Amino acid sequence: MMTFGRVIFKCVQSYKCVLAPKLCILPARYSTKCDGLLSDINVLDLTRVVAGPFCTMVLGDLGANVIKVESLDGDEARKWGPPFIEGSTDSYYYLTINRNKKSICIDIKSLEGKQVIYDLARKCDVLVENFLPGKLDQHEVGYDKLSKINPKLIYCAITGFGPVGPYSKKPGYDVIASAMGGLLSVTGERNGNPVKAGVAITDVTTGLHAFGAIMTAIYHRNKTGRGQKIDCNLLSTQISSMINIANIYLNCGIEGQRWGTAHANLVPYQAFKTKDGFFVIGTGSNAQFADFCKLIHKEELISDERFKDNAARVKNRDEIIRIISEVIETKTKKEWFEIFKNASFPNGPVNNMEDVFNDEHVKAIGLVKELPHKHAGTIKMVGPPTVYSEGGNMVRTAPPILGEHTRDILSNFLGYHNAKIDELISKKAVK
Ligand SMILES: *[C@@H]1O[C@H](CO)[C@@H](O)[C@H](O)[C@H]1NC(C)=O
Ligand SMILES: *[C@@H]1O[C@H](CO)[C@@H](O)[C@H](O)[C@H]1NC(C)=O
Repeated sequence: MMTFGRVIFKCVQSYKCVLAPKLCILPARYSTKCDGLLSDINVLDLTRVVAGPFCTMVLGDLGANVIKVESLDGDEARKWGPPFIEGSTDSYYYLTINRNKKSICIDIKSLEGKQVIYDLARKCDVLVENFLPGKLDQHEVGYDKLSKINPKLIYCAITGFGPVGPYSKKPGYDVIASAMGGLLSVTGERNGNPVKAGVAITDVTTGLHAFGAIMTAIYHRNKTGRGQKIDCNLLSTQISSMINIANIYLNCGIEGQRWGTAHANLVPYQAFKTKDGFFVIGTGSNAQFADFCKLIHKEELISDERFKDNAARVKNRDEIIRIISEVIETKTKKEWFEIFKNASFPNGPVNNMEDVFNDEHVKAIGLVKELPHKHAGTIKMVGPPTVYSEGGNMVRTAPPILGEHTRDILSNFLGYHNAKIDELISKKAVK
């Protein structure tokens, strides 16, 4: 039995966390420090949409002070709905990747706006942006300019295709990188059309590469005192994620194929239809296959020459899959999950979101967090999946409304006087 302590935190003005009622829940065995391991890192976040905001959210979850700079119109993902928050123009899509951040609106085209960016860059450790290559240089807030202002700055650019090569100026979205990087060509049913993954997984993997790169650069800066420029892009990330498919093609000239839920080199390893949905079974060894045959009462398959080892099962795939399918179809997902409860082979139902969030394991680990939100009342979100024994990887504050912290940042982080802030606002350099 696991026990969970209720430890609760809130972030206050001073950019430090204090104990406060009813905000988050942590397992008791983990540290209850809520500062986060990156609480001394300031991040200037010039990203919008998905890959960049996902990266800076991970930094924010770890306690970094993330200053999200938006244009006066805001991150375009705020408009990616419906669904929208009632009484607000923000979409629920935007909420998913922008917690633990502060929002300041700056017009980077205005002279005064640029000056604010320079002041922020001077005080920040990390800058993340996802504009087209060269775009921020045009506005004099790119790497060349900012690295002169702050040579310790770690500047991470996330783009569709990177800063060099014939496509460097092309815009990129997740699905384009998935298409051009080969993922779509191996995703989908065997004789069907290419299929896009149901979530922007290339954005997520690119954001995670950016996060890892930023941490490496922070480590390197601690040895050398120097910042650097990091280039991450969707296409390179996607191609590098093609692991076996890419390498088998490069070395053997064999193209990957679409296999639905099945596997090119392992059988059985796929989803099977049950009475009420699909159930996935994967057997990676003869011992696991034998265990599976016993549990479905088909012991005779174990000694059948056609299925005696994985290579034979791959060769006679259609036959073995037909036999298994007939059995699996006779019971529900829940019945099979119970029968395979202690099985040696990995198995599990194909869940929708309702199933996922009603799952006893998902409930027990407390992955879903609740936070108060200015317009939405209480919002729920999936918390960070990684747990640090030193604590602090957590949901602290709701995604900011547009420009929620403009005054706060200018005054408390940059130390501007009220008169100066009022002037910037009246000139529409900030909002
Ligand atoms: C690296 O970190 C250590 C420990 O915090 C610190 O004493 C040292 O000054 C840092 N070095 C540089 C170059 O930033
Ligand atoms: C799984 O193992 C537990 C504990 O040993 C046992 O109580 C349970 O009956 C087993 N379930 C099945 C389906 O074999």
